[in-house]
Amino acid sequence: SWTPAHFITDTVNALKQQIGNRKVIMALSGGVDSTVAATLIHKAIGNNLYGIFVDNGVLRKNEFEQVLDTYKTIGLNVKGVNAKQLFYDELKGKTDPEAKRKTIGRLFIEVFQAEAKTFEGVELLGQGTIYPDVIESVSVHGPSVTIKSHHNVGGLPDIMHLELVEPLRYLFKDEVRRVGHELGIPADLLNRHPFPGPGLAIRILGEITPDKVALLQEADHRYVQGLKEHKLYDQVWQAGAILLPVKSVGVMGDERTYEFTVALRAVTSVDGMTADWAHLPYEFLAHISTDIINNVRGINRVVYDISSKPPATIEWE
Ligand code: XMP
Repeated sequence: SWTPAHFITDTVNALKQQIGNRKVIMALSGGVDSTVAATLIHKAIGNNLYGIFVDNGVLRKNEFEQVLDTYKTIGLNVKGVNAKQLFYDELKGKTDPEAKRKTIGRLFIEVFQAEAKTFEGVELLGQGTIYPDVIESVSVHGPSVTIKSHHNVGGLPDIMHLELVEPLRYLFKDEVRRVGHELGIPADLLNRHPFPGPGLAIRILGEITPDKVALLQEADHRYVQGLKEHKLYDQVWQAGAILLPVKSVGVMGDERTYEFTVALRAVTSVDGMTADWAHLPYEFLAHISTDIINNVRGINRVVYDISSKPPATIEWE
């Protein structure tokens, strides 16, 4: 019968066969799939695997540093590439959600390809593709945008003409987590909520600026930390804060404020295709609202999203 330990032994052997002493390049995202795939490949070929993790400027607070640290702990050979400014420059003035997605997808490929060129003699491309990615032919965003192929680092388009290495191609998500656990990957990484490729860019409605990113990172961080502290994080499928392009009036001490609103989103779901808004305890919502408003300058109002999917989507853009 299928066990993570057997899977690992068989897969590492098969990877050694496929790869030999050739070099593999791979984009890492800090997510479960790419990390587990990379760890398997690393087990097979060691530092002939070259990982690349790009800071696109729209990651969560401290995410770039923390994820690189985790990779170091696991022993992966990963290069962190700070491309924030490039992404901010190109996102400037863009307000349309699909334009933002396309910009980020395009820049990601450009940055990755430029990095790939600096490694000599790379012949293979590692990917964290899992079985649902293989069978997911219809996008939840409609026919014109296929999430995985355009935006997720799990699915770089085949423009590099490299032979693919996809050790998770026949696994479901829970199996990937079990394999990751068996490989000794830290639980907080394995249990992370899904996070979209375009990151906070699709949670800042309208134009993205570095200031807005900083504001949302802080609010989102407090929200997610709060969920963890109150043991709610593992009970929801995905959660995050959204920065609305709306200012409203408030009072702070004797002063009138005129600042932004943050919407909190948390959903329960099985696969993200349908989702219910999570019925988080009122006490928790009260605590987080106060925490954000008192500590994040620039936000004076917090609302909770009580829309389910369909007809709403999980993300706001
Ligand atoms: P929606 O908003 O369509 O989201 O209900 C469903 C799931 O997909 C994620 N999502 C994305 N993931 N690139 C991604 O890699 C994208 O452009 C994208 N848009 C949405 C979303 O976070 C949720 O988990």
